[in-house]
Amino acid sequence: MTRKIIIDTDPGIDDAMAIFFAYKAKGIEVLGLTTTFGNVPVEKATENALTLNEVAGVSVPVAKGVALPLKREPLPHPDFVHGKDGFGNIDWPVSTNQPVAESAAEFIVNTVKAHPGEVTIVALGPLGNLATALELDPEIAGLVDEVVLMGGAHLEYGNVTPVAEANIINDPDAADIVFTANWQVTMIGLDVTHQVLLDNERLARIKQANPVEGDFLMQAAQHYINFYGETFGVEGCYFHDASTIAYVLQPELFGLELGTVRVACEGIAIGQTIVAPEGKIFPAEAWKNIPTSQICMEVDSEKLLALFEETLSN
Ligand code: BDR
Ligand code: CA
Repeated sequence: MTRKIIIDTDPGIDDAMAIFFAYKAKGIEVLGLTTTFGNVPVEKATENALTLNEVAGVSVPVAKGVALPLKREPLPHPDFVHGKDGFGNIDWPVSTNQPVAESAAEFIVNTVKAHPGEVTIVALGPLGNLATALELDPEIAGLVDEVVLMGGAHLEYGNVTPVAEANIINDPDAADIVFTANWQVTMIGLDVTHQVLLDNERLARIKQANPVEGDFLMQAAQHYINFYGETFGVEGCYFHDASTIAYVLQPELFGLELGTVRVACEGIAIGQTIVAPEGKIFPAEAWKNIPTSQICMEVDSEKLLALFEETLSN
């Protein structure tokens, strides 16, 4: 069965990995890319999404999304991770193609309504577009197949604060809306993405087999790999965003826990994803009467990376 997806994204080096992975995967039809601020400003994210389409030779619609968090001041863009251009400062020629006229939220609403029950939203950045789409038309919650998001941390440390992951802390209010809406959310957070490392050896094999996307990813990944080497002492880069696509293709690669998730929206723990595991009783009201999310806690890293390599190499 082919799964229809919308990718909500802030490209971003690992976003590029995810987008190419989805484009090359046999079991996925990408209906559109919706863009958000995050790794770069939304104008740059939109330009980058169009550039990725050019590299991949596809004409998937791109809809420009939110520029700011819902309620708070934006955090600085992390150019020490993704470069000023979002692609590791590789000076890649920029696309002059244009996004569609609809906003990202409008595109999400219209596309979900055109394919009721069939669309999975894969979210790879801060969650403002999803929250805005829910506000625009709350009915879409019941029409979306699944929301698979890269973000958050349950038992693992955060990567911006000791408890907060980047996509969530960039717009905690939007994230809390997404986790508490009446749809199926699957969280691919740092608990699993910190178990998967993509290294230069594998990237070189992909480039050899596929000199188009492979060359782009090899060039873009160097800045990212250097960042992870210097900061975490690992050889390679954590495979954040593209893990969502592996989940869409082969959910059996992951081990899940069930729980209700709330996001801390103020104070020192802002951006923390706080999980009330299913079956545990807490007197606090905040985790009651909200839908159960799936939280990925285990992953078969070898099989996941092999799936990425094989898909990108064909
Ligand atoms: C997430 O933050 C961004 O830097 C990456 O693109 C990914 O979506 C990882 O915390
Ligand atoms: Ca991202």
